[in-house]
Amino acid sequence: MTVYEAELVVDRREFAADGVLALTLRHPLGEDLPAWEPGAHVDVVLGPELERQYSLCGDPADRSVWRIAVLREPDGRGGSAHVHEQLGQGDKVRVRGPRNHFRLESAPRYRFIAGGIGITPILPMLAAAEAAGAEWTLLYGGRTRNSIAFTGELGRYGDRVTVAPQDETGLLDLASVLDDIPDGTLVYCCGPGPLLDAVEERCPAERLRVERFSPKAQQVGESSEFEVELAQSGRTVTVAPDVSVLDAVRAAGVEVLFSCTEGTCGTCETDVLEGTPDHRDSVLTDEERESGETMMICVSRCRGGRLVLDL
Ligand code: FES
Repeated sequence: MTVYEAELVVDRREFAADGVLALTLRHPLGEDLPAWEPGAHVDVVLGPELERQYSLCGDPADRSVWRIAVLREPDGRGGSAHVHEQLGQGDKVRVRGPRNHFRLESAPRYRFIAGGIGITPILPMLAAAEAAGAEWTLLYGGRTRNSIAFTGELGRYGDRVTVAPQDETGLLDLASVLDDIPDGTLVYCCGPGPLLDAVEERCPAERLRVERFSPKAQQVGESSEFEVELAQSGRTVTVAPDVSVLDAVRAAGVEVLFSCTEGTCGTCETDVLEGTPDHRDSVLTDEERESGETMMICVSRCRGGRLVLDL
Protein backbone atom coordinates (compact mmCIF):
# COMPACT_ATOMS: atom_id res chain seq x y z
CA MET A 1 0.00 0.00 0.00
CA THR A 2 1.42 3.37 -0.98
CA VAL A 3 1.22 5.99 1.71
CA TYR A 4 0.97 9.65 0.79
CA GLU A 5 4.08 11.64 1.65
CA ALA A 6 4.73 15.27 0.81
CA GLU A 7 6.43 18.45 1.91
CA LEU A 8 3.61 20.60 3.20
CA VAL A 9 3.68 24.28 4.10
CA VAL A 10 2.81 25.57 7.55
CA ASP A 11 -0.11 27.78 6.67
CA ARG A 12 -1.20 29.14 10.03
CA ARG A 13 0.12 28.93 13.59
CA GLU A 14 -2.03 29.87 16.53
CA PHE A 15 -2.26 28.98 20.17
CA ALA A 16 -5.35 26.93 21.00
CA ALA A 17 -4.56 27.05 24.75
CA ASP A 18 -1.58 27.59 27.04
CA GLY A 19 1.19 25.46 25.54
CA VAL A 20 -0.96 24.09 22.72
CA LEU A 21 -0.01 25.23 19.25
CA ALA A 22 -2.46 24.56 16.40
CA LEU A 23 -0.95 24.41 12.91
CA THR A 24 -2.63 24.12 9.56
CA LEU A 25 -0.66 22.50 6.76
CA ARG A 26 -1.32 22.87 3.04
CA HIS A 27 0.17 21.62 -0.19
CA PRO A 28 2.62 24.17 -1.66
CA LEU A 29 0.78 24.10 -5.02
CA GLY A 30 -2.65 24.19 -3.45
CA GLU A 31 -3.41 20.55 -4.33
CA ASP A 32 -6.06 18.71 -2.36
CA LEU A 33 -4.70 16.62 0.49
CA PRO A 34 -5.78 12.97 0.87
CA ALA A 35 -9.18 12.33 2.41
CA TRP A 36 -9.29 11.24 6.05
CA GLU A 37 -11.80 10.22 8.68
CA PRO A 38 -12.04 11.24 12.34
CA GLY A 39 -9.42 9.45 14.43
CA ALA A 40 -6.73 9.63 11.73
CA HIS A 41 -3.20 10.80 12.43
CA VAL A 42 -0.20 11.79 10.33
CA ASP A 43 3.54 11.30 10.81
CA VAL A 44 5.39 14.59 10.86
CA VAL A 45 9.09 14.25 10.01
CA LEU A 46 10.88 16.88 12.08
CA GLY A 47 14.44 15.67 11.53
CA PRO A 48 16.52 12.60 10.65
CA GLU A 49 15.74 10.86 13.96
CA LEU A 50 12.79 12.99 14.93
CA GLU A 51 9.38 11.88 13.79
CA ARG A 52 6.12 12.36 15.63
CA GLN A 53 2.48 11.41 15.15
CA TYR A 54 -0.26 14.01 15.44
CA SER A 55 -4.01 13.50 15.12
CA LEU A 56 -5.84 15.46 12.46
CA CYS A 57 -8.21 17.77 14.28
CA GLY A 58 -9.71 19.92 11.52
CA ASP A 59 -12.65 19.40 9.21
CA PRO A 60 -12.38 16.24 7.05
CA ALA A 61 -14.55 17.91 4.40
CA ASP A 62 -11.93 20.62 3.86
CA ARG A 63 -9.32 18.93 1.66
CA SER A 64 -7.27 22.13 1.29
CA VAL A 65 -5.65 21.94 4.74
CA TRP A 66 -4.86 19.57 7.56
CA ARG A 67 -4.88 20.85 11.12
CA ILE A 68 -2.82 19.39 13.94
CA ALA A 69 -2.28 20.61 17.50
CA VAL A 70 0.90 20.11 19.48
CA LEU A 71 1.26 20.32 23.24
CA ARG A 72 4.60 21.66 24.38
CA GLU A 73 6.09 19.02 26.65
CA PRO A 74 8.99 20.48 28.64
CA ASP A 75 10.17 17.00 29.62
CA GLY A 76 9.47 15.48 26.20
CA ARG A 77 11.98 13.96 23.82
CA GLY A 78 12.28 17.04 21.60
CA GLY A 79 9.43 16.70 19.09
CA SER A 80 7.06 19.22 20.63
CA ALA A 81 9.86 21.71 21.38
CA HIS A 82 10.94 21.52 17.75
CA VAL A 83 7.42 22.25 16.52
CA HIS A 84 6.93 25.12 18.97
CA GLU A 85 10.33 26.72 18.47
CA GLN A 86 11.36 25.96 14.93
CA LEU A 87 8.36 25.36 12.73
CA GLY A 88 7.36 28.81 11.57
CA GLN A 89 4.66 30.08 9.29
CA GLY A 90 5.59 29.35 5.66
CA ASP A 91 8.12 26.65 6.61
CA LYS A 92 7.96 23.32 4.87
CA VAL A 93 7.71 20.05 6.72
CA ARG A 94 7.54 16.44 5.49
CA VAL A 95 4.26 14.74 6.39
CA ARG A 96 3.22 11.13 5.82
CA GLY A 97 -0.24 9.60 6.10
CA PRO A 98 -3.01 9.79 7.08
CA ARG A 99 -3.43 6.53 8.93
CA ASN A 100 -6.32 5.56 11.20
CA HIS A 101 -6.37 3.06 14.06
CA PHE A 102 -9.03 4.93 16.01
CA ARG A 103 -12.01 4.93 13.68
CA LEU A 104 -15.40 6.17 14.74
CA GLU A 105 -17.66 3.15 14.41
CA SER A 106 -21.32 3.72 13.79
CA ALA A 107 -23.39 3.70 17.00
CA PRO A 108 -26.56 5.35 18.29
CA ARG A 109 -24.78 6.67 21.39
CA TYR A 110 -21.27 7.72 22.29
CA ARG A 111 -19.46 8.74 25.44
CA PHE A 112 -16.32 10.66 24.56
CA ILE A 113 -13.63 11.19 27.20
CA ALA A 114 -10.59 13.37 26.51
CA GLY A 115 -7.64 14.32 28.67
CA GLY A 116 -5.54 17.32 27.64
CA ILE A 117 -4.21 17.12 24.10
CA GLY A 118 -6.19 13.86 23.74
CA ILE A 119 -9.00 16.12 22.54
CA THR A 120 -7.43 16.26 19.06
CA PRO A 121 -8.75 13.01 17.55
CA ILE A 122 -12.03 13.41 19.45
CA LEU A 123 -12.80 16.87 18.04
CA PRO A 124 -13.72 15.73 14.49
CA MET A 125 -15.53 12.72 15.98
CA LEU A 126 -17.94 15.05 17.76
CA ALA A 127 -18.85 16.74 14.49
CA ALA A 128 -19.34 13.35 12.84
CA ALA A 129 -21.49 12.03 15.70
CA GLU A 130 -23.53 15.22 15.58
CA ALA A 131 -24.01 14.97 11.81
CA ALA A 132 -25.08 11.34 12.18
CA GLY A 133 -27.73 12.32 14.72
CA ALA A 134 -26.17 10.20 17.47
CA GLU A 135 -26.69 10.95 21.14
CA TRP A 136 -23.35 11.86 22.67
CA THR A 137 -21.55 13.57 25.52
CA LEU A 138 -17.94 14.64 26.04
CA LEU A 139 -16.11 14.74 29.35
CA TYR A 140 -12.95 16.75 28.83
CA GLY A 141 -10.30 17.32 31.47
CA GLY A 142 -7.09 19.32 31.64
CA ARG A 143 -4.73 20.70 34.25
CA THR A 144 -6.19 24.22 34.34
CA ARG A 145 -8.91 26.07 32.44
CA ASN A 146 -6.29 27.93 30.37
CA SER A 147 -4.60 24.70 29.33
CA ILE A 148 -7.78 23.25 27.85
CA ALA A 149 -7.74 23.68 24.08
CA PHE A 150 -10.54 24.39 21.61
CA THR A 151 -13.13 25.37 24.22
CA GLY A 152 -14.38 28.08 21.84
CA GLU A 153 -15.14 25.50 19.14
CA LEU A 154 -16.78 23.22 21.67
CA GLY A 155 -19.12 25.99 22.83
CA ARG A 156 -21.59 25.24 20.03
CA TYR A 157 -22.35 21.85 21.55
CA GLY A 158 -23.77 23.37 24.75
CA ASP A 159 -24.20 21.13 27.78
CA ARG A 160 -23.26 17.95 25.96
CA VAL A 161 -19.67 19.01 26.69
CA THR A 162 -18.41 19.03 30.27
CA VAL A 163 -15.06 20.76 30.69
CA ALA A 164 -13.32 19.82 33.94
CA PRO A 165 -10.12 21.67 34.91
CA GLN A 166 -8.30 19.51 37.42
CA ASP A 167 -7.30 22.43 39.67
CA GLU A 168 -10.99 23.32 40.07
CA THR A 169 -12.83 20.01 40.05
CA GLY A 170 -10.19 17.33 40.66
CA LEU A 171 -9.83 14.15 38.63
CA LEU A 172 -12.45 13.40 35.98
CA ASP A 173 -15.66 11.91 37.36
CA LEU A 174 -15.56 8.77 35.23
CA ALA A 175 -18.40 7.15 37.13
CA SER A 176 -20.75 9.86 35.88
CA VAL A 177 -20.23 8.82 32.27
CA LEU A 178 -19.31 5.15 32.50
CA ASP A 179 -21.64 3.68 35.10
CA ASP A 180 -24.95 2.42 33.72
CA ILE A 181 -24.31 3.28 30.09
CA PRO A 182 -27.20 2.20 27.86
CA ASP A 183 -26.84 -0.67 25.39
CA GLY A 184 -25.36 0.31 22.05
CA THR A 185 -23.09 2.97 23.56
CA LEU A 186 -19.48 3.17 22.40
CA VAL A 187 -16.90 4.91 24.58
CA TYR A 188 -14.02 6.73 22.87
CA CYS A 189 -11.15 7.89 25.03
CA CYS A 190 -7.83 9.60 24.34
CA GLY A 191 -5.43 11.21 26.77
CA PRO A 192 -2.62 10.43 29.21
CA GLY A 193 -1.90 6.81 30.11
CA PRO A 194 -3.30 6.93 33.68
CA LEU A 195 -6.63 8.26 32.37
CA LEU A 196 -6.84 5.49 29.77
CA ASP A 197 -5.94 2.88 32.39
CA ALA A 198 -8.70 4.18 34.70
CA VAL A 199 -11.25 4.13 31.86
CA GLU A 200 -10.19 0.60 30.84
CA GLU A 201 -10.80 -0.54 34.41
CA ARG A 202 -14.36 0.80 34.41
CA CYS A 203 -15.54 0.09 30.90
CA PRO A 204 -16.07 -3.30 29.23
CA ALA A 205 -13.47 -3.80 26.48
CA GLU A 206 -16.07 -4.46 23.77
CA ARG A 207 -17.51 -0.99 24.24
CA LEU A 208 -14.26 0.89 24.52
CA ARG A 209 -12.01 2.40 21.85
CA VAL A 210 -8.84 4.15 22.99
CA GLU A 211 -5.84 5.77 21.40
CA ARG A 212 -2.56 5.95 23.26
CA PHE A 213 0.20 8.49 22.69
CA SER A 214 2.68 6.51 24.77
CA PRO A 215 3.12 2.76 25.16
CA LYS A 216 0.78 0.94 27.50
CA ALA A 217 2.46 -0.68 30.50
CA GLN A 218 2.01 -4.41 29.99
CA GLN A 219 3.39 -7.64 31.28
CA VAL A 220 5.51 -9.29 28.68
CA GLY A 221 7.22 -12.66 28.76
CA GLU A 222 10.89 -13.29 28.15
CA SER A 223 12.18 -12.48 24.70
CA SER A 224 13.74 -15.41 22.91
CA GLU A 225 15.18 -16.00 19.46
CA PHE A 226 12.92 -16.95 16.55
CA GLU A 227 12.89 -17.09 12.78
CA VAL A 228 10.91 -14.88 10.43
CA GLU A 229 10.29 -15.95 6.87
CA LEU A 230 9.65 -13.04 4.53
CA ALA A 231 7.16 -14.41 2.04
CA GLN A 232 7.59 -11.79 -0.68
CA SER A 233 11.36 -11.87 -0.75
CA GLY A 234 11.69 -15.56 0.09
CA ARG A 235 14.28 -14.86 2.77
CA THR A 236 14.47 -16.00 6.35
CA VAL A 237 15.95 -13.86 9.11
CA THR A 238 16.79 -14.79 12.67
CA VAL A 239 15.51 -12.38 15.30
CA ALA A 240 17.82 -12.36 18.32
CA PRO A 241 16.29 -11.87 21.81
CA ASP A 242 17.43 -8.25 22.08
CA VAL A 243 16.56 -7.24 18.50
CA SER A 244 13.14 -6.25 17.14
CA VAL A 245 11.60 -7.89 14.10
CA LEU A 246 11.72 -4.45 12.47
CA ASP A 247 15.47 -4.09 12.99
CA ALA A 248 16.17 -7.67 11.91
CA VAL A 249 14.17 -7.20 8.72
CA ARG A 250 15.81 -3.87 7.93
CA ALA A 251 19.26 -5.30 8.59
CA ALA A 252 18.45 -7.89 5.93
CA GLY A 253 17.95 -5.03 3.48
CA VAL A 254 14.15 -5.18 3.28
CA GLU A 255 12.45 -1.79 3.22
CA VAL A 256 9.55 -1.38 5.64
CA LEU A 257 7.63 1.64 6.81
CA PHE A 258 7.94 2.57 10.47
CA SER A 259 7.70 5.65 12.60
CA CYS A 260 7.35 5.55 16.41
CA THR A 261 9.25 2.25 17.02
CA GLU A 262 7.37 1.89 20.32
CA GLY A 263 4.15 0.21 19.24
CA THR A 264 1.81 3.20 19.37
CA CYS A 265 1.45 4.58 15.83
CA GLY A 266 0.53 1.53 13.73
CA THR A 267 2.85 2.45 10.84
CA CYS A 268 4.73 -0.86 10.88
CA GLU A 269 1.60 -3.05 10.93
CA THR A 270 2.40 -6.17 8.92
CA ASP A 271 0.27 -9.09 7.75
CA VAL A 272 1.05 -12.39 9.44
CA LEU A 273 0.70 -15.37 7.09
CA GLU A 274 1.77 -18.14 9.48
CA GLY A 275 2.68 -18.43 13.15
CA THR A 276 1.37 -16.72 16.27
CA PRO A 277 2.50 -13.22 17.19
CA ASP A 278 3.33 -12.25 20.77
CA HIS A 279 1.62 -8.84 20.67
CA ARG A 280 3.34 -6.10 22.65
CA ASP A 281 1.90 -3.02 20.94
CA SER A 282 -0.58 -0.40 22.19
CA VAL A 283 -2.64 -0.21 18.99
CA LEU A 284 -4.51 -3.44 18.30
CA THR A 285 -7.76 -4.28 20.09
CA ASP A 286 -8.11 -7.57 22.00
CA GLU A 287 -10.10 -8.93 19.07
CA GLU A 288 -7.43 -7.96 16.56
CA ARG A 289 -4.73 -9.49 18.76
CA GLU A 290 -6.73 -12.68 19.05
CA SER A 291 -7.14 -12.96 15.27
CA GLY A 292 -3.34 -12.80 14.81
CA GLU A 293 -3.76 -11.48 11.28
CA THR A 294 -1.41 -8.55 11.70
CA MET A 295 1.31 -7.40 14.10
CA MET A 296 3.38 -4.32 14.88
CA ILE A 297 6.86 -5.54 14.06
CA CYS A 298 8.63 -2.74 15.97
CA VAL A 299 7.74 -4.30 19.34
CA SER A 300 5.79 -7.55 18.92
CA ARG A 301 7.50 -10.91 18.79
CA CYS A 302 6.63 -14.57 18.27
CA ARG A 303 4.95 -17.28 20.31
CA GLY A 304 6.81 -20.31 19.11
CA GLY A 305 9.82 -20.46 16.86
CA ARG A 306 8.66 -19.11 13.52
CA LEU A 307 6.54 -16.47 11.80
CA VAL A 308 5.83 -15.98 8.12
CA LEU A 309 5.26 -12.30 7.30
CA ASP A 310 3.94 -10.68 4.13
CA LEU A 311 7.16 -8.78 3.46
S1 FES B 1 6.50 1.96 14.15
FE1 FES B 1 4.82 2.73 15.29
S2 FES B 1 3.75 0.92 15.83
FE2 FES B 1 5.55 0.18 14.93
